[in-house]
Amino acid sequence: MTDVRSVGVLVGSLRRGSFSGRVAEAFAALAPASLRLGTIDIGALPLYNQDLETDPPPEWVAFRDRMGAVDAVLFVTPEYNRSVPAALKNALDVGSRPFGQSVWDRKPGAVVSQSPGPLGGFGANHHLRQSLVYLNVPTMSQPEAYLGGIAKAWDAGGSLTPEMRDILERFLKAFATWIETTRPR
Ligand code: FNR
Repeated sequence: MTDVRSVGVLVGSLRRGSFSGRVAEAFAALAPASLRLGTIDIGALPLYNQDLETDPPPEWVAFRDRMGAVDAVLFVTPEYNRSVPAALKNALDVGSRPFGQSVWDRKPGAVVSQSPGPLGGFGANHHLRQSLVYLNVPTMSQPEAYLGGIAKAWDAGGSLTPEMRDILERFLKAFATWIETTRPR
């Protein structure tokens, strides 16, 4: 039997009904048997402030525990002003400390960005990758996923279009292989 790897999914949008959240749900539904995807909430994390490390907020502790326990991380995010939404950057910062205890170190990762516009959140995707290099997250290079025109990813009945379903399934398949290749042993 194949080992099942747990994947923490971080969604860069906090709004109800967000396209990013819907893409994350679609990923979870389409995941192969070898992957178990679960969204880890980032919306309740207090803003990072190093002074709080003497008595860390319980939300930070819970987030660090949950992120530390998963085998891999999948980011699904919109682009805010050509960059990463603040909530997602805050989650990166919270998970990166205390120094030497980062939850990100060597955790295999993948990035998906989306936008109703044509560029698919390319700027956010690559700004996020810049942080992931520093955080030592081995991040899947191919296939890239800049999901442009995201509002058209579902039909009138709310089902994923066959084209989008195919893109997400191929992405997950590649990510499952990436996790096996790069996970710490
Ligand atoms: C946006 N939006 C946006 N879109 C884009 O393609 N490039 C950008 O730089 C920005 N900037 C931006 C800033 C802010 C503050 C907001 C609220 C929105 C539009 C954005 O892509 C759109 O609202 C998405 O639907 C947001 O994703 P969710 O919330 O649906 O996941």
